[in-house]
Amino acid sequence: MAMGLTAVFLFLFIMKAWAQHSPSKVVGVVHEVAYLSPSLQNQKPFHQIHWRRNNSVKIASWNSRAKVQYPNSTYRGRLELFPNNTLKISCLQKNDSSMYQVYLEDEAGKEHIESILLTVYDLVPKPTVSAKVISADPELCEAILECSVGLEGVTYKWIPHSKFPPESVGVSEQRISFNPLLETYTCEVSNPVSSNNASLTYRHPCSWTGESSAGASHTTTSMLVVLGHLLLLLLTQA
Ligand SMILES: *[C@@H]1O[C@H](CO)[C@@H](O)[C@H](O)[C@H]1NC(C)=O
Ligand SMILES: *[C@@H]1O[C@H](CO)[C@@H](O)[C@H](O)[C@H]1NC(C)=O
Ligand SMILES: *[C@@H]1O[C@H](CO)[C@@H](O)[C@H](O)[C@H]1NC(C)=O
Ligand SMILES: *[C@@H]1O[C@H](CO)[C@@H](O)[C@H](O)[C@H]1NC(C)=O
Ligand SMILES: *[C@@H]1O[C@H](CO)[C@@H](O)[C@H](O)[C@H]1NC(C)=O
Repeated sequence: MAMGLTAVFLFLFIMKAWAQHSPSKVVGVVHEVAYLSPSLQNQKPFHQIHWRRNNSVKIASWNSRAKVQYPNSTYRGRLELFPNNTLKISCLQKNDSSMYQVYLEDEAGKEHIESILLTVYDLVPKPTVSAKVISADPELCEAILECSVGLEGVTYKWIPHSKFPPESVGVSEQRISFNPLLETYTCEVSNPVSSNNASLTYRHPCSWTGESSAGASHTTTSMLVVLGHLLLLLLTQA
């Protein structure tokens, strides 16, 4: 029993420590808006409140006479502090990404501080895809497929469009069908706010065509994938 209680207390303690050390997270999209909302919403009214960026510069405040101020010019015209203490940031820029703190002070002068991490992302543009043929043997087409967008902090994924059913576990018999003359590979690029894709089509014996991509972007990140056509054999394992 005592052991059980200790375990519960320890657990609560860990939960509390965890809650204090991991601020809530908000993601935003460039040019759009973000709402930073303190979790203490409907408690007793606070005497004064203010928001800071990265625990230093004061950006919005609300004093006891209910007068709202936005002291920092970097955010000129882009902030709105609501009566529920939520801070709205409009026309987001990448460099608005930061930790923000809300300082809520009650009548007794006791301060409650809460942190919110804001991360602003670009919408992922359509990727640019291309294929470099390494070997165009009639038996084996080997190529490097390249996919890029001019953005950091994105994840790349290549998806083959073989006409296999989705992974079927626990079956001893598997029906398959594919066209060895034609195959499409899609590169999907995503970040926490959006995703986009572009495809390359393989035609026997070893020609590759892409979609014409809109908006030429400078290549800063890229991912290389080596694809032998023999990869298809892997799927016969089922
Ligand atoms: C936030 O403050 C820390 C030091 O307190 C500083 O090292 C860091 O560069 C600051 N970050 C931003 C985004 O201003
Ligand atoms: C406004 O904030 C920027 C950084 O975000 C800081 O360099 C500048 O000193 C601040 N201005 C005022 C008036 O506080
Ligand atoms: C706070 O108030 C604003 C404006 O009325 C509203 O848009 C927002 O959803 C509210 N936030 C919460 C957490 O209630
Ligand atoms: C953020 O970037 C914009 C341009 O995108 C610039 O005008 C602004 O001064 C930058 N703000 C800070 C605090 O660096
Ligand atoms: C590719 O993007 C289109 C919309 O642009 C979407 O409908 C489609 O599902 C996406 N395909 C993949 C494989 O993600």
